[in-house]
Amino acid sequence: MNNPGQVESKKEKGKGMKKSLVVALLLFTFAFASACRYDMQDQPRLKPYKQSDFFADGKGMRDLPEGTVARGQLREDKVFYTGKRPDADPNVQIETTTDPSGNTLVSSFPNDIDYIPMPVTKEVLDRGEQRYKIFCIVCHGPVGNGDGMVVRRGYPQPPTYHDDRLRNAPVGHFFDVMTNGWGRMNSYASQIPPADRWAIVAYIRALQASQNPQGFGSEDGARQTASNANTNSEAQNTNGPAANTAGNGGANQ
Ligand code: HEC
Repeated sequence: MNNPGQVESKKEKGKGMKKSLVVALLLFTFAFASACRYDMQDQPRLKPYKQSDFFADGKGMRDLPEGTVARGQLREDKVFYTGKRPDADPNVQIETTTDPSGNTLVSSFPNDIDYIPMPVTKEVLDRGEQRYKIFCIVCHGPVGNGDGMVVRRGYPQPPTYHDDRLRNAPVGHFFDVMTNGWGRMNSYASQIPPADRWAIVAYIRALQASQNPQGFGSEDGARQTASNANTNSEAQNTNGPAANTAGNGGANQ
């Protein structure tokens, strides 16, 4: 027992045993880990819209319970989000005609509201101008004559904003056109949030006033907005050469 050599050899023995235990453990782990390996792409799951025998209706994806609302999408204020009267009748007949260039012209607006359902401030008008110059100017032109750059390059010409039909059209119609698209024009709902759509509507009214200042004298809320906006020199600026305004629009972005 007191022999130092003996103690030494016992220690050695212990070390050796520990080592082989560790190796055995590692081997054991690897052997099992490789057998159970699952890549994430191989996990048992259903792809959206794929069929499945698991559910009685054969669909892998479950229908959302009725009345489900995505977070932040409640949209309780229907008027603000649709531009339609609260008592709007979806089955009402709307009169339309088609002009020689194929545009669908509507002249009755039974469901559209004629006031902007949020306060219209100078900031809102500025925002509307900026958005108009990003999204609409390319087709509708700097003042809304329908002579935007892509139209000059061959895109179908939209109707001007400056005839009696669109001057007298309620603001809800403009909102609706952006929200749902109109004839050959596609919807801008996914690119322009509702408040910005209303800001653009306010700016279009300002453009209309800028081209026809005498015609905007009524007490109507929306018209007043437009004539107020007319005092904003921006509306007159857009009267300048088209290329000039388009250039400003680009610089603003
Ligand atoms: C790619 C070209 C293009 C862009 C961009 C565009 N429009 Fe149009 N817009 C058209 C065309 C074409 C029509 C005519 C559609 C028809 O009647 O078939 C039209 C029609 C309209 C009308 C008239 C609807 C009516 O009653 O006759 C309004 C209002 C309008 N657009 C607003 C906008 C606003 C606001 C924007 C920007 C958010 C915008 N448009 C962006 C091409 C465009």
